[in-house]
Parts: sequence; C-alpha cells; structure tokens
Amino acid sequence: MLILNSAEVAQKTCRRWKKQSSIAFVPTMGCLHEGHLELIKRAKELAPKVIVSIFVNPLQFGPNEDFEKYPRVFEDDCKKLETLGVDLLFHPSVKDLYPEGFTSKISVGDLGSRLCGAFRPNHFEGVATIVLKLFEITSCNFAIFGEKDFQQLSVIQQITRDFNLPVCVIPHPTVRAEDGLALSSRNSYLNLDDREAAKQIPIALKLAKEQASNHSHQTTEELLEKIRPVLLEKGLKLQYLEITKSRYLLPTAPTDSISSLTLPHLFIAVYAGTTRLIDNVSLSSTV
Ligand code: PAF
Repeated sequence: MLILNSAEVAQKTCRRWKKQSSIAFVPTMGCLHEGHLELIKRAKELAPKVIVSIFVNPLQFGPNEDFEKYPRVFEDDCKKLETLGVDLLFHPSVKDLYPEGFTSKISVGDLGSRLCGAFRPNHFEGVATIVLKLFEITSCNFAIFGEKDFQQLSVIQQITRDFNLPVCVIPHPTVRAEDGLALSSRNSYLNLDDREAAKQIPIALKLAKEQASNHSHQTTEELLEKIRPVLLEKGLKLQYLEITKSRYLLPTAPTDSISSLTLPHLFIAVYAGTTRLIDNVSLSSTV
C-alpha cells in the first residue's frame, strides 16, 4: 500500500492511475471500525484501484467540539488497510490541505443548516469543502459514504449535482453492533452506562419503522410521541428528533400523515453522557 502525505503528489499519482483504470474512494477521519471496512470492501467491488483518506478535518469541527481529542490511531488503521489490499492511503497534514492563504469554502444552502446543521453551524460547509478537495485530488469515479451520516450523504449528493462533479456517490447501509447501535469512531468515548443507554437508539428506530409501516395514517407528531419516551427511558438527552421528507430532507408539519410524505425519514441526535450520537431510519414503506 502506497502512503502519501502530499496533496500534490497524491493528485499526480491518481491522475496517472485514472488513465488506466477507474478509482473508488473512501474518505475517513481514521479510527477505522467495521463500518469503514465495509465501505472499503464495497469500493473494491466497484473499481480496480481503491484509495482511502485519513484526515481529521478541522473545518468541520466547531470551537467547543472534539477536534483535539478525536481518536487518532494511525498505525492500527494502516494495518487494517494493508489487510484489505487498499492501493493508496492519503494521509495529509492540516497544513498540506489548508496552507496559509486558504480561504474558499462551499456554502451548501438550507440542507446544511437543518437537523445537525442547526446545532453545528458551518459543519456541513466544512464537510463539503474537504470532500470537494478530496474528490479533486483522488480523481475518483466512485465515492462511498455510510448512511449513518445520512445528512452528510445528502449534502455530498447535493454538491455533486450542483457542481456537476464526475463522481458517482454510493450510499452504504449503516453497519451496526450486535445490539443494534450504529458503529461510530465516537462510540469509543462511551462509558458502560452511556453504552447501555445508547441501546435505546436502535430500539427507538425499530419502533419508528414498525409504526410507520403498520400505522402509516398516523401523523408525524403522533409517531414522534411514541418514540420520544423510548429514547429518554435510560437517561439519554435528546438534542433533536425529527421527521423529514424528500431527498432534500425538508421539514414536515406535525399534522402531516406519514403516508402522505415522499421519502419520510426519521433523524435522531442524543447525548449519552457527554457523547453526541446520531442515527436515522427511512420510514418509506418500500425501503
Ligand atoms: O464522515 C467522515 O468521516 C467525514 O465527515 C468525512 C466524510 C471523511 C469528511 O471529513
């Protein structure tokens, strides 16, 4: 596995590769878990050359967020990537991607200011900016993103459409632990009590899915009223619980019936202790 730190060298290498073969790309912030590994396995099915990036992107963290303490386990990550047969690991420094004088950012519009964006101002601007840079550097034909970060995936689909990026964005289903908790690098922050409480998230998602398929005439507010107590039962603190519609994740009214919505989708953000966890589920009858 080739490991490159320089954006310039990585870009030249990828452009050379692109002449011979297609490229699939998995962007990450490291601390790789089974969820990331599944994305990489999917990448290997899609193209002969697979590139992974590890970069903890300061632009997407707020001033009081966990940029400094975000887990960095580069040696372990490298071993996992070697085992999977990744062709190139791109591991730039902050200075390399944001040199002095860097000023441009991508504004993603309304989609980036709802749900998580309402609590993490500029987060999606930071995500969109780094992803555009990484797409340019890697010349990828395919880029794989997990559905756990469904709003992030939607934002990336949006910028890909808006800027006519020649990249096929491939969504990948959320990978879950045995008890249903979505895998996330931030799960490593959870103590035993937090981890126990976090089990309520998949329980709530399952209930929401069942309610939406068996009682689709009910309103969004009626459904949310059933989900809320399940989430709160073991001490999780709710940041938001919302049902959206359409691929643009538009807000819904409390009186909208689930069956009247196009692509209804439930989003959850909670705190387990001091750790923020997010998850989501489609409420569409067909998915
Ligand atoms: O999902 C992540 O790990 C990050 O947001 C991403 C897509 C690598 C951009 O920094």
